[in-house]
Amino acid sequence: MPEGSAVRSMFSGIASRYDLANRVLSLGLCVGWRNRLVDTVKACAPDVVADLATGSGDVAFALRAALPAKAEVTGYDFCEPMLALGRRRAKAEGVRLEFRTGDCMRLPVPDASCDAVTVAYGVRNFEDRDKGLRELRRITKPGGSVFILEFSQPDAWFAPLHFIHVRCVLPLAAALLTGDLGAYRYLGTSIAGFPDAEGLSAELKAAGFSQVSCERMLFGTVALHRSVV
Ligand SMILES: C[S@@+](CC[C@H](N)C(=O)[O-])C[C@H]1O[C@@H](n2cnc3c(N)ncnc32)[C@H](O)[C@@H]1O
Repeated sequence: MPEGSAVRSMFSGIASRYDLANRVLSLGLCVGWRNRLVDTVKACAPDVVADLATGSGDVAFALRAALPAKAEVTGYDFCEPMLALGRRRAKAEGVRLEFRTGDCMRLPVPDASCDAVTVAYGVRNFEDRDKGLRELRRITKPGGSVFILEFSQPDAWFAPLHFIHVRCVLPLAAALLTGDLGAYRYLGTSIAGFPDAEGLSAELKAAGFSQVSCERMLFGTVALHRSVV
């Protein structure tokens, strides 16, 4: 698993180009995956939501727009340049959305205080995944849910195409868009090394979650896990 300080400095370097790169590199598919996450959270009607590893707040803004005004949505990240983008956008758009500094290894959030916790493309970057998953569980109320949207391992027939895309096409296209080949080489390596949907479900259960369910998308290249505390 990657070192937290290396992950922080990598995202600091690409922060200003991150959102555009995401949209282009996923051919816009990331918007549909994000919306699936938001719809699933909305169905639980949470009052207090924490979006962890929020980055520039893509998921947090979508949650804010989808949930009633009384719901409290806060984004947490340990990378200040990413948070600064979120804060600037919230101010420009007049959106009531708070962004706070927080490391998912030890969050500045009280025990059992959130109805829903979301993490999109963040868990893969955790320095210690088991510690991070337990931290997610700690801040979630009994009966509340943790939602993890993350890259996963595709069906066998799609794996060769996926491998070429992630290892060759993605780093090159990303290097052109962001000027940082290293960051996107890391993306390919971290995707390839991440557990499949079953493996992540097993890790969530080992971290103390019950009722773990999973929805695989695009032949399993992306998975949305929901775990109840
Ligand atoms: C790939 S971006 C995802 C951003 C956003 N969730 C999205 O969907 O666009 C990963 C984010 O995770 C953050 N991150 C990684 N490890 C973290 C940790 N331990 N604590 C807080 N943030 C973390 C990085 O700083 C980065 O902003």
